[in-house]
Amino acid sequence: MNPLLTDAQKSGERVGLKSDSIIINGGKPLNGSIEVRGAKNLATKAMVAVLLGETPSLLKDVPDISDVQVVRGLLEVYGVKVSNPAHGQLSFDTSNVESAHFAEIDAHAGASRIPILFCGPLLHRLGEARIPDLGGCRIGDRPIDFHLDALRAFGAVVEKKFEGIFLTAPNGLTGANIELPYPSVGATEQVLLTAVRASGVTELKNAAIEPEIMDLIAILQKMGAIISVEPNRVILIEGVDRLEGYTHRALFDRNEVASWASAALVTKGDIFVRGARQSEMMTFLNVFRKVGGAFDVQEDGIRFWHPGGELKPVTIETDVHPGFMTDWQQPLIVALTQAHGESFVHETVYENRFGFADALNEMGANIVVHKSGLPNHPRRVARRDFEQAAVITGPTPLHGANIYVPDLRGGFSHLIAALSAEGQSVISNMGIISRGYEHIIDKLEALGADFVYEG
Ligand code: EPU
Repeated sequence: MNPLLTDAQKSGERVGLKSDSIIINGGKPLNGSIEVRGAKNLATKAMVAVLLGETPSLLKDVPDISDVQVVRGLLEVYGVKVSNPAHGQLSFDTSNVESAHFAEIDAHAGASRIPILFCGPLLHRLGEARIPDLGGCRIGDRPIDFHLDALRAFGAVVEKKFEGIFLTAPNGLTGANIELPYPSVGATEQVLLTAVRASGVTELKNAAIEPEIMDLIAILQKMGAIISVEPNRVILIEGVDRLEGYTHRALFDRNEVASWASAALVTKGDIFVRGARQSEMMTFLNVFRKVGGAFDVQEDGIRFWHPGGELKPVTIETDVHPGFMTDWQQPLIVALTQAHGESFVHETVYENRFGFADALNEMGANIVVHKSGLPNHPRRVARRDFEQAAVITGPTPLHGANIYVPDLRGGFSHLIAALSAEGQSVISNMGIISRGYEHIIDKLEALGADFVYEG
């Protein structure tokens, strides 16, 4: 056995660790500095937007994550030349965009939800679009009815076949009046990416206004689009005949920042997240402070740490922006298992986003999930037909366990639970975490985690 290995690494050698798994020796604080780059939920959409430009585009701060690889692969299928002029940058030459064989498109099926956003740009560029089966985290039904209804309103003809979705626009695409049943992020992006080149004006009501959407609008404006964000979730888009390429630095990943902030709190550590900005994180920072976390906003990032003392329980409702994001609740819930008292987390965005709680309970947490919500619990807004609530009672010491990662954010919460737990954990299916967290293994190493990883 290699004498230079840590204890966790030695035990990895002994058990013959399976690929895509990590052994963690928990109970040690994560301390140090890491950097977040462009948001997964912006960079991938910015990549789709290049299809609308007649000239090349350059995107900076692109994270090295598998969702980006999937979108790159699909763009290449359509003849976009993608290159890597510098670290973290992707350039796109769209001068030879062409139709693709369905088999080539289908090779990307099930890997990501982003392909649905190719519809508008492909209809403008090629007059047709073929969309493979979608992937993404299994956190509910994740229907695409808002997307398809909006595309039909623009004049697209949608055919659902066994192999996927086929769209054509026999009479071109025309601006439309669309009201979303819910301020869906993806459906808002669908409308933006379609309306910018449709003839006439589009009025979108009940639009999502997440910072990633604002960054996408900034990109489209650089390309030549005319988009105005009006009060009360209304967006007006005046279609134009031609769009150019863009140069843009992607907005930082707010979800990754919130994840590492929770990791600092959970492991009683101290993490400086370079690239994090306050203005897009205010709602999270308020909750983090109420739970008992400390933070310091600096010019080039935010430092998060556990200042000592007891953590306090909170009541949270996930919501659309500027509310508390659904992607922030999973890592924070791990911290809430150590708060003194009962915390309530109402999930109002997705219908099935507490699946990760079972593994936390196996590790010693006390989380009760109410699948139909908590009927007599007052909430700020009654908005969805479905909702779930989790009641977390703490503090409960966590111990190591064997866990199979179910989804991206839930997986990160398992990882930080294992890092804080007494004893050893084996976490498998780590690949799902690298869909959205860049260089996760390097970052764990930089923060002093004790682990062995078999990629
Ligand atoms: N919805 C419908 N019909 C539709 C579209 C959405 O019923 O046609 C429902 C969804 O089922 C869900 C709600 O509307 O209940 C909100 O979904 P939304 O469309 O806003 O989500 P999304 O665009 O599919 C993005 C992020 C998610 C993030 C949500 C909410 C990407 C690739 N994904 O998903 O990120 O949770 O917005 O902010 O941008 C993640 O990063 O782990 C992740 C899941």
